[in-house]
Amino acid sequence: MYRSNTCGELRASHIGSEVIISGWVHKTRDKGFVVWVDLRDRYGITQLVFDQDRTSKTLLEQARELGRETVIQVKGEVIERASKNPNMPTGYIEVLVHALNILNKSILPPFTIEDETDGGDDIRMKYRYLDIRRNPVKNNLIFRHKVTMEVRKYLSDKGFIDVETPYLIKSTPEGARDFLVPSRMNEGQFYALPQSPQTFKQLLMVGGMDKYFQIVKCFRDEDLRADRQPEFTQIDCEMAFVEQEDVLNTFEGLTKHLLKVIKGVEIESFPRMTYDEAMRLYGNDKPDIRFGMQFGELNEVAQHKDFNVFNAAELVVGIAIPGGASYTRKEIDKLIDWVKRPQVGAKGMVYVKCNEDGTYKSSVDKFYDQEDLAKWAEATQAKPGDLICVLSGKANETRTQLSALRMELAERLGLRKPDKFAPLWVVDFPLLELDEETGNYHAMHHPFTSPKPGQLELLATNPGAVKANAYDLVLNGNEIGGGSIRIHDKETQATMFKHLGFTPEEAREQFGFLMDAFQYGAPPHGGIAFGLDRLVAILGGQETIRDFIAFPKNNSGRDVMIDAPANIDEEQLKELHLKLDL
Ligand code: AMO
Repeated sequence: MYRSNTCGELRASHIGSEVIISGWVHKTRDKGFVVWVDLRDRYGITQLVFDQDRTSKTLLEQARELGRETVIQVKGEVIERASKNPNMPTGYIEVLVHALNILNKSILPPFTIEDETDGGDDIRMKYRYLDIRRNPVKNNLIFRHKVTMEVRKYLSDKGFIDVETPYLIKSTPEGARDFLVPSRMNEGQFYALPQSPQTFKQLLMVGGMDKYFQIVKCFRDEDLRADRQPEFTQIDCEMAFVEQEDVLNTFEGLTKHLLKVIKGVEIESFPRMTYDEAMRLYGNDKPDIRFGMQFGELNEVAQHKDFNVFNAAELVVGIAIPGGASYTRKEIDKLIDWVKRPQVGAKGMVYVKCNEDGTYKSSVDKFYDQEDLAKWAEATQAKPGDLICVLSGKANETRTQLSALRMELAERLGLRKPDKFAPLWVVDFPLLELDEETGNYHAMHHPFTSPKPGQLELLATNPGAVKANAYDLVLNGNEIGGGSIRIHDKETQATMFKHLGFTPEEAREQFGFLMDAFQYGAPPHGGIAFGLDRLVAILGGQETIRDFIAFPKNNSGRDVMIDAPANIDEEQLKELHLKLDL
């Protein structure tokens, strides 16, 4: 038997009992006649005591030699500590060691296994198994487990069936590039790893499963960011015989349940906002509504004077920064530099200080009088003491730039509080999105999303105006889920493919299986997929999903621990009928 107890469990009530515990040597303190060792496992730390009077000299010598991270097993008696540590659950006791068994030695770890470690990001990723021994990483993984278990329980209780779908499939377009797998047995042919199980879950509805879920890996070859990994996990769900309202209610229920059991936060009902409204008020389809700073459109009150920059703009739009009127000239110049960075891309920024005495001081006083500026303040809901920041230009670009400024300022002002939760449904997304470079339309959600009732005809005349039965769940400014009501008849699906630029032959080749299935009594259906990594990170008060994934990839898509991707040898290439031409 390796252990009778864990390192996190012994309390005053155990005093007097003989125990066996195993774990890693966290730290040793050598006082000459007595040596203390902190022994650590997943459950906590227990202090061991070795002393030459009460145990033995040999044991004391052995304890003195124990290096950090050595794995040991000890047998001993739980005793009351002379100096207690009220900050530790096991701080009342220590174990007086009678026998020590070294299970495995450790070489010196490349960083300290402490909450605040001396190891940088790269080294911790290379030795991720050591990083996982640290509380912050370990606790994140345990937290993820809790969320996952709650999701499984909740959905199973609501009648959802967990079905696994294959990973070696054909491309399912979700807007990213596919990861491809060459087939040895089918020369020159490739599988694609799923960007999501979208088509399979729809086929499960045709198969009569009615309510499906799966906690499933998805693979997308796209540029990586803090909230994106090339392989990530979805809580993927689909339901038959549902309308949008049914899906929203079901998954609002799941999210409310998670907020309540995991965070103790009760939210009555989630607000809803149309996509158009979100863009107008926040310049963003995933607005963080934990704070205000809504956009005020200023075209009407700013395009009547000789300021040509504004007159030539499609959109003039501003936000009020709480307390910003006190910013110095230097601070404002820095803000202007910030919006002019290539990552944001604004050409400049106009500002108005709303003085406490009700007057205004702007960077365009030459063109606008107090009465004009009062109207700007009204449109941006600025109060005395605020600073109005105004951008102008092409509508979409300007909204994106102002949204970036809004988020940056909110971050700086501490308005993005991690312990505050503000969910929001964004609904009525456009069905199609224009690719400005190619001039082609592509599906904003995916090609299986249905247009709003009665809007199919609009596809031929004004495709950009068609709205979809598509919705996103936003939490604290992050898209944590997205879904739609699907097309379930062959003709509509064929029309959709046509508008997305597929010839009938191409549509047949890529999605014939789905259109065929639709001919055998496909029920109306719809669903959603949550990004589990994002959901867990946000519930955990953070936005970097890497910290909640056991073995994540870095920003170049590499696993630096196992060193993947890697070269493969000639023999393997040959077997796969591949030739590299580098
Ligand atoms: P969508 O593409 O919106 O929908 O993806 C669903 C959710 O998955 C998360 N997500 C990601 N998380 C981490 N890294 C990534 N690279 C990444 N990409 C997406 C997001 C997103 O909201 N099949 C549809 C769902 C449906 O229609 O039912 C789909 O995959 O949180």
